[in-house]
Amino acid sequence: MDSLLFSISYFTLTLFFNFRPISAATFTFVNRCHYTVWPGILANAGTPKLDSTGFELPKSGSRSFQAPPNWSGRFWGRTGCTFDPHTGQGTCLTGDCGSNQMECNGLNAIPPATLAEFTIGSGSTQDYYDVSLVDGYNLPMIIQPSGGSASCLATGCVTDLNRQCPDELRAGSGDACKSACEAFGNPEYCCSGAYGSPDTCKPSIYSEMFKSACPRSYSYAYDDATSTFTCTGADYTITFCPSSTSQKKGVVTSTTNGSGSDRSIGFSMGTSWLPDFLTGDSTRIISRSVLTSTFIASAISILFLF
Ligand SMILES: *[C@@H]1O[C@H](CO)[C@@H](O)[C@H](O)[C@H]1NC(C)=O
Ligand SMILES: *[C@@H]1O[C@H](CO)[C@@H](O)[C@H](O)[C@H]1NC(C)=O
Repeated sequence: MDSLLFSISYFTLTLFFNFRPISAATFTFVNRCHYTVWPGILANAGTPKLDSTGFELPKSGSRSFQAPPNWSGRFWGRTGCTFDPHTGQGTCLTGDCGSNQMECNGLNAIPPATLAEFTIGSGSTQDYYDVSLVDGYNLPMIIQPSGGSASCLATGCVTDLNRQCPDELRAGSGDACKSACEAFGNPEYCCSGAYGSPDTCKPSIYSEMFKSACPRSYSYAYDDATSTFTCTGADYTITFCPSSTSQKKGVVTSTTNGSGSDRSIGFSMGTSWLPDFLTGDSTRIISRSVLTSTFIASAISILFLF
């Protein structure tokens, strides 16, 4: 009888735990800025929210999130935030989402803000990702895939564009840099109206300035060809202020020598790329989660016996 009970509870619990949503990607946020960053997370309509919509990431801190298959959304970094320790209310100097609190609760970054945009695949289909300056810039940010298959290049903007921001685009006291669309509002810069197609909307002197500083980032709405990247079954590290020392050379090299998934990121023209070391371990998370849940189910089943 006991063993029958054991079997029933074991199977029930194993089923129960294995029906929990399976993670398709892990996002790890790393703060290498010399200041605190408050990342904001916005899930696109129709995809679930992650464990947080906004949190504090101290200098040198990191935090990871699991995203289910087909998740899509965006990340950005808020800077200069002050939240009242008692009420939790407050605002940020840049990248504020208007929620008046740490969590953004479904609200978007108020430009200017550097954005990391993702559309995660099902694990066997492609992920799409990019770093966008279409809504302006507030801090350096890069995306580094690991453990995926296919091209899986790093992207982002290492340069401190606030230092190079033309006066007419400067936001506040130089803490962020507006897009020309936001600063001037004309259709030519916004790729709207008569300029609302890839044929009619061309790079402007402003978007070209962004592009030359950050060649892999979206500099205007139709900058797709050189700015959208794909990878399959990867995890992603999003790093704020990836390198303040090597950015002068235009090259950032990952400092962690892990399982062979590191890549050198060249941001200047003509920089050669290290070959991709494809580890093809896209099933890693799934197997780990199944193992964990089987273990938990067994542990709980054993409790039932006593
Ligand atoms: C993800 O999207 C694909 C294509 O739209 C679909 O076939 C698949 O069932 C989706 N997976 C999940 C877990 O929603
Ligand atoms: C990483 O590996 C490269 C070559 O394999 C080596 O030159 C470098 O010093 C290593 N970096 C770290 C931080 O271990």
